Amino acid sequence: MACGFSNTCRAVIVFIWAALTLLKVHVASATNISIHVAASEIERQALLNSGWWKDRIPHNTSDHCGWVGITCDYEGRITDIGLQNSNIKGELGRTIPKEIGSLRNLESLDLSSNNLNGTIPKEIGSLRNLELLDLSSNNLNGTVPKEIGSLRNLKVLDLGSNNLNGTIPKEIGSLRNLEWLELSSNNLNDIVL
Ligand SMILES: *[C@@H]1O[C@H](CO)[C@@H](O)[C@H](O)[C@H]1NC(C)=O
Ligand SMILES: *[C@@H]1O[C@H](CO)[C@@H](O)[C@H](O)[C@H]1NC(C)=O
Ligand SMILES: *[C@@H]1O[C@H](CO)[C@@H](O)[C@H](O)[C@H]1NC(C)=O
Ligand SMILES: *[C@@H]1O[C@H](CO)[C@@H](O)[C@H](O)[C@H]1NC(C)=O
Ligand SMILES: *[C@@H]1O[C@H](CO)[C@@H](O)[C@H](O)[C@H]1NC(C)=O
Repeated sequence: MACGFSNTCRAVIVFIWAALTLLKVHVASATNISIHVAASEIERQALLNSGWWKDRIPHNTSDHCGWVGITCDYEGRITDIGLQNSNIKGELGRTIPKEIGSLRNLESLDLSSNNLNGTIPKEIGSLRNLELLDLSSNNLNGTVPKEIGSLRNLKVLDLGSNNLNGTIPKEIGSLRNLEWLELSSNNLNDIVL
């Protein structure tokens, strides 16, 4: 390079280096922001597809983090769904949309004391961060899916007061963090070990 080791030349090089570094950070964080926006849009779609908020979305809030029963983290990802005793009807397996697996940050799902029927969908097993799952006091039937055994962070599992039958899956035994398990008032057989 013609400028050799002159101070001006070094200053120019340092300046270019700094500019490139800053640019890189900006591009990276812009990418992050768009990833977050996309993820939160998928979560919003999942909520809309469930139909559970049909009559509950205040006309002036487009931000689903502000909807009844929803809590989000600082990145706008849903951590909590609490719609207990909210007169929700229909088949859980149909109303829990396929996108439920996209709620990666969901820690608490409480749909207790509603009129949900049908079966517990195996997709529930993709909610890997779930610590509380309460589907008690509904009309769910069919069996308890063994995929519940994938919810390794689960502390509270309440499926009581439904019409579940069959055998309690032995995978529930691998839930090491479980502090509260309620399966009573169903037609379940014991765990076969
Ligand atoms: C992008 O997000 C990841 C985690 O989601 C974080 O570790 C990383 O520091 C972020 N990068 C920028 C440039 O904000
Ligand atoms: C939405 O409208 C209700 C009344 O219709 C009002 O109480 C509430 O503050 C409004 N929320 C926002 C975010 O504007
Ligand atoms: C669930 O309940 C609805 C009425 O709310 C009924 O139409 C539907 O057939 C029921 N499904 C099952 C599997 O029981
Ligand atoms: C659940 O109940 C409905 C309505 O009684 C019935 O049609 C359906 O076969 C039941 N499903 C299972 C898996 O037991
Ligand atoms: C659960 O109940 C349904 C409807 O009564 C029955 O058809 C099915 O065989 C039962 N399943 C088990 C595993 O007991």
